[in-house]
Amino acid sequence: MSVETHPQPSLSDAQPGELIRLANITKRFGANTVLDDLSFTVAPGKHVTLIGPSGSGKTTILRLLMTLTRPDEGTITVDGDQLFPAPEKQIREVRKKIGMVFQQFNLFPNMSVLRNITEAPVQVLGMSGDEAEERARELLDLVGLADKCDAKPTRLSGGQQQRVAIARALAMRPRVLLLDEVTSALDPELVAGVLDLLRDIARSTDITMLCVTHEMGFARDISDQVLMFDGGRVIESGSPEKIFTDPEQDRTREFLSAVL
Ligand SMILES: Nc1ncnc2c1ncn2[C@@H]1O[C@H](COP(=O)(O)OP(=O)(O)OP(=O)(O)O)[C@@H](O)[C@H]1O
Ligand SMILES: [Mg+2]
Repeated sequence: MSVETHPQPSLSDAQPGELIRLANITKRFGANTVLDDLSFTVAPGKHVTLIGPSGSGKTTILRLLMTLTRPDEGTITVDGDQLFPAPEKQIREVRKKIGMVFQQFNLFPNMSVLRNITEAPVQVLGMSGDEAEERARELLDLVGLADKCDAKPTRLSGGQQQRVAIARALAMRPRVLLLDEVTSALDPELVAGVLDLLRDIARSTDITMLCVTHEMGFARDISDQVLMFDGGRVIESGSPEKIFTDPEQDRTREFLSAVL
């Protein structure tokens, strides 16, 4: 066994003013190195958008933060506590600070809308049923679905289901919200409503957001910073104004001209 497990210890140590720190992350699927010695940090309350070609590892980064997959190398720190590598108990604790909304909603189909939202706060946070329900009703009000408490998700439109998924993520009072192309599976006329809701959440909460989106107008509105991925690394980062209007890298320019 090598003793040189942390060749660059300073990179893996959380610094003040950082909520998320990925340091020297490498992730391979077989022979495919998807993330290659990747490092970046996100300050508390900031909204960061990840852009880059299909297969560049954007979803993989969010899945690493959700601990749905583990890196081969590197460290991940959230709010001062290590998420990886860490003992299972610590992973479970740190994980509670992170919520995710997926492209395909992933609601529990056999539970009512209300129960979809109360389930994790009760089971994972140990919240009382009454408190979880009160909070769920407030959140359903926030997302414009107060009248759908008792409905089953399959009876809702895609846009409504995605609003429930957003409410469900917020019910855990996360410090970090991960959004992975949350409007890509929606009919075009439902996209604007969900993006408006997310704009509201970005404006009115201090939740740190990491967002993968092809909605460049939305990204421009909400982002403090845009990270451009290619070849498993961040090849360029900056303000949305800079990245969307005057990128440094040819690769970024090519990518944007293809998607804009
Ligand atoms: N479970 C898995 N097993 C094998 N390979 C995987 C797995 N998950 C992702 N990959 C591979 O990792 C690479 C990055 O995938 P990822 O889903 O992170 O890309 P992405 O940037 O989100 O792409 P897209 O914009 O198409 O969603 C791809 O080459 C993909 O095939
Ligand atoms: Mg993806």
